[in-house]
Amino acid sequence: MRVAVIGAGTMGSGIAQVCATSGHVVRLHDASPGKSAEALVAVRSSLERFAAKDRLGGQEPDDVLGRIEVAPSTGSACEAADVVIETVVERLDVKHDVFGAAVEAAPADALLATNTSQLSITQIGSVLGADASRLVGMHFFNPPVMMQLVELVVGLVTSDSTVKAAEAFASGLGKETVVCRKDSPGFLTSRISAIVRLECLRMLEEGVGSASDIDKALRLGLNFPMGPLELGDFNGLDTYLHALESLERSLGERFRPTVTLRNLVAAGRLGRKTGHGIYRYAGDGSRVDDGVDGAGAPSGANR
Ligand SMILES: NC(=O)c1ccc[n+]([C@@H]2O[C@H](COP(=O)([O-])OP(=O)(O)OC[C@H]3O[C@@H](n4cnc5c(N)ncnc54)[C@H](O)[C@@H]3O)[C@@H](O)[C@H]2O)c1
Repeated sequence: MRVAVIGAGTMGSGIAQVCATSGHVVRLHDASPGKSAEALVAVRSSLERFAAKDRLGGQEPDDVLGRIEVAPSTGSACEAADVVIETVVERLDVKHDVFGAAVEAAPADALLATNTSQLSITQIGSVLGADASRLVGMHFFNPPVMMQLVELVVGLVTSDSTVKAAEAFASGLGKETVVCRKDSPGFLTSRISAIVRLECLRMLEEGVGSASDIDKALRLGLNFPMGPLELGDFNGLDTYLHALESLERSLGERFRPTVTLRNLVAAGRLGRKTGHGIYRYAGDGSRVDDGVDGAGAPSGANR
């Protein structure tokens, strides 16, 4: 199949890799100059790690990379696409612009999918008129190459055939699916993970425990694969703040972001991608401290 991936950030690069590894031909577009080329570098290094572990199904990294082409615009990426996957920043206005251009250019029967973590599929589709029936949430998890689940989210006017097509496409990528039948904020997964991570931030702010002990407690005591605070750094604290603000608007103040989280984002401490978030990271991505305290200062700092 021909797949257009719009947005080549954290998720777009991984989704392009998953699609190309499964044999699809991908056209990747990002509005930020150089971003798609950067994504291809990340995809190459990930594919080389998979190949070294003999986990590319006998393919060479170059074979997979040869199926990903950078497109100069959303329109050109979507021409002749069977599937369009939008994975741009989590802003309704930007997603509206992208789908406006995508629906103009894509074939009239293309599957339209958004990777939003918690925005309303129905609102994203409100600019699509009758074509909104072809729009479905296809929520991949980070990193898409490793995570098993794709959460499908059904908008108010999403057709049954669209959901079936998305299920078949995800399953062809080797993914499991769950269906969030009601287009409600945060779906099945983001709503829960937001509240758990928020409670960890509140405990940090109250001085109940250090960041590293809160994460360790959830990893070793509650069997979380990763602590919620380190996961926040991994996914990007800015993304998490936007998600909380949106959940607060729709579901109420129990989702209100903490002051520390706002301060970290305002200071550009966004997590791994900037080398510093709740924790500080070395150039190779390893963690080099025990995290901030409830005021955003290094834990144990003499202030
Ligand atoms: N990061 C995660 O853990 C995660 C997990 C699941 C879903 N998501 C969702 O995936 C989407 C992307 O998140 P991300 O973490 O990859 O963000 P990101 O900031 O890493 O990447 C977003 C990309 O979109 C590009 N972009 C912005 N406007 C554009 C436009 N008009 N046309 C084309 N490209 C444009 C930006 O240049 C950027 O490269 C969001 O909706 C987010 O909620 C994120």
